[in-house]
Amino acid sequence: MTMTLGDRPQPDAMFALDGVTRTYGETVALAHTSIRIAHGQRVAVLGPSGGGKTTFLHLLGGVIRPDVGTVEIDGKDLDSLEPGRELASLVGFVHQQFDLVPHLPVMHNVMAGKLGQWGLLRSMLSLVSARERNQGLEALARVGIEDKAQERTSNLSGGEQQRVAIARILVQSPRAVLADEPVASLDPARAADLIQLLVEIAAETGRTLVASLHATEFVRTYFDRAIGLRTGHIEFDIPAGEVDDELLTDLYDLSKADDHGSRSNGGAGQGGPGGARTADRPPAGSVPPQPRFRTVD
Ligand SMILES: Nc1ncnc2c1ncn2[C@@H]1O[C@H](COP(=O)(O)OP(=O)(O)OP(=O)(O)O)[C@@H](O)[C@H]1O
Ligand SMILES: [Mg+2]
Repeated sequence: MTMTLGDRPQPDAMFALDGVTRTYGETVALAHTSIRIAHGQRVAVLGPSGGGKTTFLHLLGGVIRPDVGTVEIDGKDLDSLEPGRELASLVGFVHQQFDLVPHLPVMHNVMAGKLGQWGLLRSMLSLVSARERNQGLEALARVGIEDKAQERTSNLSGGEQQRVAIARILVQSPRAVLADEPVASLDPARAADLIQLLVEIAAETGRTLVASLHATEFVRTYFDRAIGLRTGHIEFDIPAGEVDDELLTDLYDLSKADDHGSRSNGGAGQGGPGGARTADRPPAGSVPPQPRFRTVD
């Protein structure tokens, strides 16, 4: 079979979902979605509660597997990746409920970033060399809480605990960071600070960052690309600078809570013809509205 240029896999995607569907019982949490995210890109994932943001991030990070379709991380099929070491070297996760061990000292939680590299025995023994300890302290200094290293983690505020989760990612040092509503529990000033920190850390090291956010005011300032998810479908995929109030009002519109019953977004995220953004919506009662896409990877 002759391979043409168009058949060649496109290089340089940190993440690639191809025809991915993920269901939970009767619920389609993400419906036949195809999307590529380039190395170094900063992507905001927006959408109402239950829209599929966590499912999307968990699929990108190999936390869950698709029912249908394929997931590639840094060009490797998810099924071929070793769950501990190899996956941890590629993807770090800041979870919606940051999964720190509350009764342990902060430093312990930070060094858990090494779990993927260490293997179970060493992790259980927690044999931390002086060099590794320094790495942990440096990470805590980078996120501004080096004085908390020996503090019991549960004594820290929500924002500080979120910084511990970010320090752990620094120690883990993966190629991409996935953050699921990293600022959900923070006041606006601390939320802005934390998003800035995440974005800076990603930019300093050329890491890809994909973050789900309810705080949409940060999108235009800090991100390159915005993906809107609703009822498991991609509603838009556009440069972050193009996110506007009308788009957001539409995305979060309560009256449209379940309008995807018979709709497909096959090929979503690949961009419309020529990468153009589909602009005007047709009048009510005609063809269903088309999602807006503009490929930015
Ligand atoms: N483990 C699960 N078991 C059953 N249903 C699930 C599970 N995880 C997600 N779902 C369902 O899949 C859909 C998408 O959920 P998901 O958690 O991805 O949404 P979300 O956009 O992250 O919402 P939120 O903003 O509230 O965090 C929802 O209808 C949810 O109820
Ligand atoms: Mg979620």
